[in-house]
Order: sequence, then C-alpha cells, then structure tokens
Amino acid sequence: MFVCHCRALTDGEIREVITGGACDLDEVGLRCGAGITCGGCCPLIEELLAKHAEALRPPPLAASA
Ligand code: FES
Repeated sequence: MFVCHCRALTDGEIREVITGGACDLDEVGLRCGAGITCGGCCPLIEELLAKHAEALRPPPLAASA
C-alpha cells in the first residue's frame, strides 16, 4: 500500500528504511524523502516507527516466586 503519495513510497519501502536504521521521522525523510513534501503521510510513518520500536522491545521478565 502506498504510504507517501508524493514520493510514491509503499509501506514496505518505508519499513526497509526504518529497518536500515532510520529511527525518527526526520531520518526517514532524509533517507527516502517520505514525509517532507506535503507531510500528509507523517502519521502513517510515525505508526510504522512505533510498530518497529514495539517489535524490538524485549519481552517483560517473568516474575520470580
Ligand atoms: S504524502 Fe508523503 S510527503 Fe506527501
């Protein structure tokens, strides 16, 4: 699905940029141009960044008895 219509970038392409090390909206914009024209896709990019950060978060430690 297209996330950034201004740059014709899909969610998969933006995920690749995030996986490659872009950790915030500015960095995603610098690396692929998403979010820097009209800004309409910024909420979706933020969502992808949040999902990536969530996936990297370690599971909570089990409570010891
Ligand atoms: S839709 Fe991404 S900058 Fe316009």
